[in-house]
Amino acid sequence: MFSVRRIGLHEGPLYRSIRLAALLDSPDAFSETFEAANGRSADDWNSRADGASAGSDRAIFIAFSDGRPVGIAALYADPESERHGVMVQVWVAPAHRGGSVAGELAACLLSWAGDCGFERVSAWFNSENWRAARLFRKLGFELTNETQPLRPGSDLVCRQVTRLV
Ligand SMILES: CC(C)(COP(=O)(O)OP(=O)(O)OC[C@H]1O[C@@H](n2cnc3c(N)ncnc32)[C@H](O)[C@@H]1OP(=O)(O)O)[C@@H](O)C(=O)NCCC(=O)NCCS
Repeated sequence: MFSVRRIGLHEGPLYRSIRLAALLDSPDAFSETFEAANGRSADDWNSRADGASAGSDRAIFIAFSDGRPVGIAALYADPESERHGVMVQVWVAPAHRGGSVAGELAACLLSWAGDCGFERVSAWFNSENWRAARLFRKLGFELTNETQPLRPGSDLVCRQVTRLV
């Protein structure tokens, strides 16, 4: 059994622990590196958590099992189009993969996005990440022709997927 909820005020330590776990586990799934995230101050983590805990331009949702965080997904408004969201930081702890955690996190984010007036949500995934590709296809996302490097200087290529909310 697991539950999903939006991150709350002053939950920087929670955000830090699950985000660092994700970056350690899956360094090639995210553009941010563990080292960069690990260098952030406690105030920075708190301010990011606070900013995603309320309002309609960003949100972080966390999945819990037995009170422990086991999954995360975030959505940010695209700075170039406020009705367009970008889903990022999607991660499920290895022991909880293959169940419904990823789908439930995405469902919560998309429901929130719909309530906030987002019309379209996009995401980027490393083109070698077949598990993420299959998850997004299962969720109704479609591939676009857009690509970009995982991070500046990386040979790894990310593909974009998108769907209406
Ligand atoms: C991507 C992620 C969140 C998906 O969560 P999950 O619990 O694994 O997702 P699901 O099991 O619901 O769906 C994954 C799909 O990949 C399939 N899959 C599982 N293992 C696979 C493998 N080794 N190769 C290819 N596909 C695989 C599953 O069968 C499933 O597809 P199906 O339902 O059509 O059969 C999770 O795997 C994860 O955290 N990965 C590391 C971080 C990451 O890649 N994040 C995404 C960044 S864009």
